[in-house]
Amino acid sequence: MKIGILGTGHIGKTLVIRLSAAGHEVKVANSRGPETIDPKLLSAGARAVTTEDALTDVEVVILSIPLNRIAEIAPLVARLPDETVVIDTSNYYPFRDSKIQAIEDGKVESVWVAEQLGRPIAKAWNAIGSASLAKKGKPAGTPDRIAIPVAADRERDRQITMALVSDTGLDAFDAGSLAASWRQQAGAPVYCTDLTLAEIPAALDAAEKDRLPKRRDLAVAVMQERLGDGTTNPDEDWGVRLVRAINM
Ligand SMILES: NC(=O)c1ccc[n+]([C@@H]2O[C@H](COP(=O)([O-])OP(=O)(O)OC[C@H]3O[C@@H](n4cnc5c(N)ncnc54)[C@H](OP(=O)(O)O)[C@@H]3O)[C@@H](O)[C@H]2O)c1
Repeated sequence: MKIGILGTGHIGKTLVIRLSAAGHEVKVANSRGPETIDPKLLSAGARAVTTEDALTDVEVVILSIPLNRIAEIAPLVARLPDETVVIDTSNYYPFRDSKIQAIEDGKVESVWVAEQLGRPIAKAWNAIGSASLAKKGKPAGTPDRIAIPVAADRERDRQITMALVSDTGLDAFDAGSLAASWRQQAGAPVYCTDLTLAEIPAALDAAEKDRLPKRRDLAVAVMQERLGDGTTNPDEDWGVRLVRAINM
């Protein structure tokens, strides 16, 4: 498929590499311009472009930027045809994104993003740590392959997103509508705990909405104490152990 990816950070860079290696025609942009994109990301054929070009003549757009930068790209997203599949990887972290009152008051994060963009989206890859995504992906059919939830309101968005998730080395679990996607937000049992497909339904069922923000902030506090800042991501083993202890 023709895919435009915004963001080359912890998550975006791995999506670029995996999806181009799987044979997709990938264009990628960050906020600073194509010349600043690491050439290593382009080795499987992805092209570094401007933000505008990444959102032109593509069938799928993947937004892998901080939640508080979504408003910046909304005017470009508004120009996409209705049938374009827009997939968002974002999570709300108040220490990074500043307080967003609607989400603090309980609005589901992906519903907030869809409202900012004024169009349907799918939510995927938000519930896997960057190190697990980079290092633990396996071919379809491998026993104990890690699975992640996918939420969407349109059936075509869901099916295409689930197939692309598999192309990145993970099983995809149909987690239902955007309104129900609070069950895959930070602090939830399914969030960054590297579960298998068989383990996901019980983890989604066990989510308790009121406890998510506290658990999210506890994990951030421990990571910042250990790693020293808010931008270094934990490795694929310690991060999962920590989040399992807090969220499950
Ligand atoms: N880190 C994780 O383990 C993880 C896991 C799952 C989901 N997520 C979520 O996925 C999203 C991305 O996370 P991340 O950790 O990959 O972030 P990150 O490392 O901070 O990278 C963010 C990327 O977004 C780009 N960007 C920002 N504004 C942009 C714009 N207007 N147009 C184009 N590109 C723009 C940045 O480009 P410049 O550098 O040029 O500004 C950068 O490449 C976040 O919402 C995060 O919560 C993260």
